[in-house]
Amino acid sequence: MIFVGQSDIISNAGATMTLYAPTMKELMLCATHAHTAIPGFNIPYLPMMEPVVQALRDTRCFGLIMVARLEWVKFAAGSLRTIYDAYQQAKDEQYTRLHLDHVPVIDEDQLAVEYDKIILEAVEMGYDSVMIDASRLPLRENIAATRHVVKIAHAANVAVEAELGAVLGHESGPLPPYEVLFETGKGFTDSEEAEIFVRETGVDWLSVAVGSVHGAISASARRAKKVEARISIDRLDAIRRKTGVPLVLHGGTGIRKECLLDAIRHGIAKINIATAIRQPYEAMMEEAPKEAEAAVYHATRTIIEDELELTNSVDLINPGTVQD
Ligand code: 13P
Repeated sequence: MIFVGQSDIISNAGATMTLYAPTMKELMLCATHAHTAIPGFNIPYLPMMEPVVQALRDTRCFGLIMVARLEWVKFAAGSLRTIYDAYQQAKDEQYTRLHLDHVPVIDEDQLAVEYDKIILEAVEMGYDSVMIDASRLPLRENIAATRHVVKIAHAANVAVEAELGAVLGHESGPLPPYEVLFETGKGFTDSEEAEIFVRETGVDWLSVAVGSVHGAISASARRAKKVEARISIDRLDAIRRKTGVPLVLHGGTGIRKECLLDAIRHGIAKINIATAIRQPYEAMMEEAPKEAEAAVYHATRTIIEDELELTNSVDLINPGTVQD
């Protein structure tokens, strides 16, 4: 089937039809109802984008191209604009959308960020969804900043993701031992707070801390292998029951496969992946750039096919709807 943008009109044997391109909010709800997930792939280097789109298309998996602020500040994504322009060249609207990942209010170096300016710019440019990350602030301040962004984005019909709890790993200091973190549940999202947060902010999806950690990004640690994380399914269930919105799992690299599949069954509708495709690219990008792109393609396919088992998920999420 041909799939084109919402406003595109095509002529078919004399009849005129509009093919409807669903919004990100609708696509995430489809994923939730189908008990499947949308993988989001971070693009810290622009040449990684094409192979990710190609891998999504070849596996018939619906996914997101994502950029976080730290990827243009600390890596080579360029800017909001360069990623947006590259996406216009690479995109395939049946299989992809463009998401702005972590825009922190306080960043990983504890510096204040003009987060609302960045979000407004992305919304005006045409990003399909955005993430505000005020999780380093106390609950009430997180709610206030998130509400502010929801107002800006919803005015343009753009969906908003926010984070509650601490998915650690982007900060430069060492992490506490993983088993201590998991056993104590330190920083995990509290389900009662999540209920209040979702109700008071009107956020569309919630990133939760339930056992995963982000891959390190400091120059000295970004090549390190990630710890193998687990997921607290009990905690996830409690949050899902209290919130009723699609939930998002950050730190998607290196989680045990059975935990990932369980998390999807228990309400995770979007999984963020960065380290698993960045490290193979960085290992070769200087000496062999073309091979580095091929490595991104293979890593993306492996994640979709073997780890997340999301081959053909497009049929459940974005099969293409025809309207008269
Ligand atoms: P990983 O680097 O662990 O894949 O996490 C990515 C992420 O959560 C980006 O928001």
